[in-house]
Formats: sequence, C-alpha cells, structure tokens
Amino acid sequence: MPRISYVNGRYVRHSAATVHIEDRGYQFADGVYEVIAVHGGRPIDEDGHLERLGRSLGELGIAWPMKVRPLKIVMKEMLRRNHIHHGMLYIQVTRGVAPRSHAFPEPSPASSLVMTARSLPAPNKETLGRGVGVITIPDIRWERRDIKTIALLPNCLGKQQAVQSGAFEAWMVDGDGLVTEGTLSNAWIVTKSGELVTRHADRAILDGVTRRAVLKLAEKNGIGFQERPFSVEDAKGAREAFVTGTTALVKPVIKIDGQDIGDGRPGKLSLDLLGFYLDQVSGLCEET
Ligand code: PDD
Repeated sequence: MPRISYVNGRYVRHSAATVHIEDRGYQFADGVYEVIAVHGGRPIDEDGHLERLGRSLGELGIAWPMKVRPLKIVMKEMLRRNHIHHGMLYIQVTRGVAPRSHAFPEPSPASSLVMTARSLPAPNKETLGRGVGVITIPDIRWERRDIKTIALLPNCLGKQQAVQSGAFEAWMVDGDGLVTEGTLSNAWIVTKSGELVTRHADRAILDGVTRRAVLKLAEKNGIGFQERPFSVEDAKGAREAFVTGTTALVKPVIKIDGQDIGDGRPGKLSLDLLGFYLDQVSGLCEET
C-alpha cells in the first residue's frame, strides 16, 4: 500500500509529494505546523491543535488555507487512505509561493498546506514509564516561542546534542538560569515538598496541548500545581521530573545532566499522570 500525502488540494503518493522551490516555508521558514497524535484511528485533542494552529497563523498574518471543517475532512481522509490506527498527522501551512523577497508578497499568494501521516507503535505504559535522561543547554531561540513555527533549527541542534549525550531530550535554559522547555516537549518537576510545577505559558514557551491536558488531569484528580518558572538547580534538586508532548506523551525524567533525580527512578506522581493520560487517550479511542 503506497503512503499518501496531501499537497495543496491533492492526495499524492508520498514519494511524489513536492512543493515549489520558492515556497516561503522552504526559503524563510515562513510557516507554522501541528503534530497531532492518532490513537485508535482518532486524532487526539484535534480541536486544541487546530485552535493553536489558528493562533499561530493569526500571529504571523498567514491566511487559513481552508476552513476548519474541510480541513478536518482532509485529516480524516489522510488517516483513512494511510490506514492509520496509531500514529501521527503532520500539518504544515506556509505563507505560500512568491519570488524571494523578505517582506510579505503583495498580493498575498495562497497559503500552502501539506499533510503527512505516519503509523507508530501503540503507546505502552511500561516502555513510557521507564524514565529518560535530559541534558540542559542554553535557549538560543527567538522571543516568540509561543508560535509553533517551522523554524526549528535550534530545536534540532539541541535534540541532536541530547542524542549524542545518550539523553532523550535537551531542556533549554534562559538567561536567568530558568528552564523554558524541551526541544519538542514541555518540562515539569515535582519539588521536594511535593509541588507539581511547570512553566507558565507566555511567549517563552509553546503552550503544549499535552501540557494543557495533563494540567486538566491533575486538577481532575485533586493534584495541586503551580505554573511558574523553575531553575536548573530546582530541577536537579527535585523529587521528580517529567516531560509532556504529543510524541513524547508523558515520560518520567530520571537524570538531568547525568545527575539522578530523586532516587534515580521514575517518580510516583509522574507515573500516575502518565497512567491518567493513557487512560484518557484509550477512553477517547473507545468512543469511536
Ligand atoms: N513538538 N515545546 C516544543 C518546543 C515543541 O515542539 C512541542 C511539540 C511541545 C509540546 O507540545 P504538544 O504537547 O502540543 O505536542 C513543547 C512536536 C511534537 C514536534 O515538533 O514534533
């Protein structure tokens, strides 16, 4: 079965899916994206992702490539054509194709929309709960990290550094020594006194859809939390740490820069939240 991708109104074989060389996404990273998890054949938190896509587009003055309702139909069709049960959908919208010139083209070209879909193994609690290491690196990104742009070079460099260090993720640290987020996930700690903490969502971080889901689950389960910055020192002295993200799901962190967190094993609250999250996702699957 050939893999199918969507490019500007057409479903095409993945191997033949191409965009123009003067697409502004290609030349200027002038575009935004979403990664949406699919479980049980159903996009998870679809509305949250599409709302954030709309926000990112609005912040950059890029027009929606189509209305939300037909976009959802394309997403569904991509899952159908690619037989995705567990996996992910990638949606990218750029300002479109125009002769290379920094200022926005006049008149505005049509926004470009591409979509890919991929199967992935079903999430497994035992594997996810094993615990991972993170390293810390300076955050060298721009000041609008709340916009989910395709300009991901610092994130790629950071993730590569993590991989080369044998870690899962790199936590980026601002000029005040405070952790912003991971290269593809949000960062959390449980302090020595048992307080669940994640950075508040302002322009310094991407407000993760998984982050929001986990905050809601904490609330629902009577777990108090604080949305505030924490330092690398706080993190290294924490009882627990973990990351959240669409592809990372919820992963306990057991080492930061090679140093054990807590007793060096996945923390109880992290594992509880992982469990709640997986239960919620499988509940959503059953509804289909
Ligand atoms: N990344 N922070 C950054 C910088 C991210 O790139 C992501 C997601 C997150 C978590 O957001 P969410 O929970 O909505 O996935 C936080 C996606 C998965 C990616 O680039 O592949």
